[in-house]
Amino acid sequence: MKLVVLISGRGSNLKAILDAQLPVEIAAVISNRPDAAGLDLARSHGIPALALDHRQHASRVDFDSALIEAIDRYQPELVVLAGYLRILTDGFVTHYAGRLMNIHPSLLPSFPGLDTHARALAAGVKIHGCTVHFVTPTLDHGPIILQAAVAVRSDDTPDTLAARVLAAEHHIYPKAIAWFAEGRLVEQSDGRVNLRDND
Ligand code: GRF
Repeated sequence: MKLVVLISGRGSNLKAILDAQLPVEIAAVISNRPDAAGLDLARSHGIPALALDHRQHASRVDFDSALIEAIDRYQPELVVLAGYLRILTDGFVTHYAGRLMNIHPSLLPSFPGLDTHARALAAGVKIHGCTVHFVTPTLDHGPIILQAAVAVRSDDTPDTLAARVLAAEHHIYPKAIAWFAEGRLVEQSDGRVNLRDND
């Protein structure tokens, strides 16, 4: 199975996916920021790494259609958002319906959006975590594929909590991608995703 990974920054989730040595081909890594460290990581693995600078496009729609063109050249079965920090247009999301995955640093549906760790601490939750989900037009609301829980400690800061959640992200994202590649993710008629048993 071929996938394309979209990043914006350091690429630690990309590294986790590479390190997992899944039976998938990462056909390309694309960043909207030319200085993303994840691009060098991809190149060091011999993976085509492209920067498509959103600042050089007049509108979000223009940029997203250029992005679709760049991705579709590789004909991926799955597009993986790994720390991709741009809001996607509805057109983009619809184009990849059912084959666009994201990882979000909270236990959705709690804390969609930004600053999840500070918000979790402010709310006083004792359990926090991360979620892999399919992307739909409503931000951070798509069908949930897999979650990992992390216990909140009384002395946590947003940074210490983020570090433990990130470690959990690195664990679950490769697993969710493997399940997709094995054809084990089944979307029910109510939109929820179930995991089919291994044959
Ligand atoms: C992760 O926390 C991810 O959940 C969020 O952005 C961060 C990306 O980190 N969407 P990295 O670039 O994979 O290191």
